[in-house]
Amino acid sequence: MDQIRIRGGRPLEGSIRISGAKNAALPLMTASLLTGETLTLTNLPFLADITTLVQLLMQHGVHVAMRGEGAGGGHVMELSAAAITSTEAPYDLVRKMRASVLVLGPLVARCGEARVSLPGGCAIGTRPVDLHLKGLEALGAGIELAGGYIHAKAPKGLSGGHYVFPFVSVGATENLLMAASLAKGETTLVNAAREPEVVDLANCLVAMGAKIEGIGTDTITVQGVDALGAAEHRVVPDRIETGTFAMAAAATGGALELVGARLDIVASVAEALDAAGVDIAETKNGIRVSRRNGLRGVDVMTEPYPGFPTDMQAQVMALMSVAEGASMITETIFENRFMHVPELARMGANINVHNASAMVRGVARLTGAPVMATDLRASVSLVIAGLAAEGETVINRVYHIDRGYERIEEKLKGCGAEIERIGS
Ligand code: EPZ
Repeated sequence: MDQIRIRGGRPLEGSIRISGAKNAALPLMTASLLTGETLTLTNLPFLADITTLVQLLMQHGVHVAMRGEGAGGGHVMELSAAAITSTEAPYDLVRKMRASVLVLGPLVARCGEARVSLPGGCAIGTRPVDLHLKGLEALGAGIELAGGYIHAKAPKGLSGGHYVFPFVSVGATENLLMAASLAKGETTLVNAAREPEVVDLANCLVAMGAKIEGIGTDTITVQGVDALGAAEHRVVPDRIETGTFAMAAAATGGALELVGARLDIVASVAEALDAAGVDIAETKNGIRVSRRNGLRGVDVMTEPYPGFPTDMQAQVMALMSVAEGASMITETIFENRFMHVPELARMGANINVHNASAMVRGVARLTGAPVMATDLRASVSLVIAGLAAEGETVINRVYHIDRGYERIEEKLKGCGAEIERIGS
């Protein structure tokens, strides 16, 4: 298994191109199942999770072609689902990546049935899919669970319905948006997720011919259409990659330009950085981040968008580990998302966890250590800590990072970091 070795203590200086968002790209790719015509996605990141979803889509009958780098970097992918050859998403592929459950809505909407393996729990929490299923039932699907599989049926097609989410779910909103696009009649989704990735999917569906109103608000109305068609769509820049490199610049006392990044979709992260003593401003090409003087501890609570993202919680904790004063970090989305705490502690961080909150008391410096990556964002928090620490950090189980960060060591090396991948 690959490792990443970092010699810390060098401020990051220069520019990094921000890739397309993984969490937008995955649902966008599953939207290709809704039409027999070609969906072309540009600015697509090339990541392990994208490859896993390509495998799943291909076994449903989707033809997938990658066209290398498009204008401004990023990859171009053409997906054509002229005929769906299988409506089953098998356990072996779904267990590799929970986002595979996003094929459920499109398959049942287009084919009238789908059999999708139930995704299991994962490192950050139990992560049930009950809202996806209740929402599909509200659109007239019959749902049975048996043998570890979800069997959804709507032999006469889905019909419009009204569904109120009891709490915000990104994936369930995406599944239902796709399903409702081909349902007969009007669907209203109340307390829908407003994440930029949901907005990106809705905009792509509209380009494919869907009729959607209220995009970006918590009440979305969809008028079902008989068929969707071809479209070309550019994947939104990755706000979590943006925030991650911003934290890395701040933690090392450096300055970075994040090319292609959008400040409007990282407002809550920018606000926390500003309060911590970091300048963050729009430039012609993206965003510029630089540390003013010392770092101050700030309190952060994760919330659905536009609140502070749970996918940035581990990274801000790494930053707060080297800030002056204390910081209270509260996780409200996932029940088990503090696995980076013992690893950061091995590097000298002073963190006490009590239920869903972590009290971080900043230390003058972290020291390098061998550490273990446990999930995607936890692992990248160790990269940030390693870049800021004195001495050498070796991160094990790097495959977690490869699921969501494109060429991370190349991007950081280009800004002066001493970082290398060691193959096993
Ligand atoms: C998406 O996951 C992201 N993944 C996650 O990013 C992100 O952390 C999460 O949204 C929250 O922003 C993708 O977009 C592929 P949810 P998702 O449904 O859609 C509970 C990363 O690091 N819930 O909004 O699965 C759930 O357990 C990943 O890139 C139910 O109880 O998240 C969680 O506590 C990790 N029942 C909360 O809701 C359901 O049916 C929010 O989950 C659905 C969700």
